[in-house]
Amino acid sequence: MHDFDQTYWERHWRESPLPTEPSRVPPANPYVVDETRDLTPGTALDAGCGVGAEAIWLAGQGWEVTGVDISATALAAADDRARAAAVSERVSWIEADASAWEPSQRWDLVMTNYAHPATPQLEFYLRLAQWVAPGGSLLIVGHRSGDHGHGHGSPDGTDHPPHEATATVEGITSRLDPSIWQVETAADRTRTTGGGHGHSGTLHDVVVRATRRVGTDDHQ
Ligand SMILES: C[S@@+](CC[C@H](N)C(=O)[O-])C[C@H]1O[C@@H](n2cnc3c(N)ncnc32)[C@H](O)[C@@H]1O
Repeated sequence: MHDFDQTYWERHWRESPLPTEPSRVPPANPYVVDETRDLTPGTALDAGCGVGAEAIWLAGQGWEVTGVDISATALAAADDRARAAAVSERVSWIEADASAWEPSQRWDLVMTNYAHPATPQLEFYLRLAQWVAPGGSLLIVGHRSGDHGHGHGSPDGTDHPPHEATATVEGITSRLDPSIWQVETAADRTRTTGGGHGHSGTLHDVVVRATRRVGTDDHQ
């Protein structure tokens, strides 16, 4: 077992065979596409953006996107892809540990897609929630608890994340104070993918989207 620290993620991305042709770049996660479809484009943060598929897709929809990731290698690939997709002017990339980062800005949409840091998963989600502007949205797509293994590409042949990198819908929504958050989506989802994001086979996910009520501050 290992920590999901910067060393781990930097090695993960250095060893990943990343497609260089834009036509072979994996599409954005369909849950992100579905959940943001009816939102009015504004500012967005993708925490743990990896090689940028979702950030670039959002930029293509008119959002002003910040992608933050702990891996410089992932961000360099994301930047190349944003140029290839001709959305560079609407995306900026920040190398930071989002579990310690203290951004001065708030965003209309804060999303995270399969990011799992070295810190507890729920703590990470609640930290991101603080960065949502009043009236804005929090979107979490994560690995669902209960179907886990030893880690991506682990020797046991599974590609399931370990338990500590997973969450349940109830675990997330029960931590969102209803006086601050209106939960719009809280769903278990299953899909099959051919891979491309470092994930392949059947994915068991949680999808939570919530709106920060207007007039609430960022204590949660
Ligand atoms: C499984 S990948 C998912 C990447 C991308 N969101 C996707 O869905 O393809 C997890 C990402 O989270 C990033 N990450 C992990 N811990 C982080 C942290 N503490 N701060 C910022 N990024 C982090 C990793 O570098 C990696 O790019």
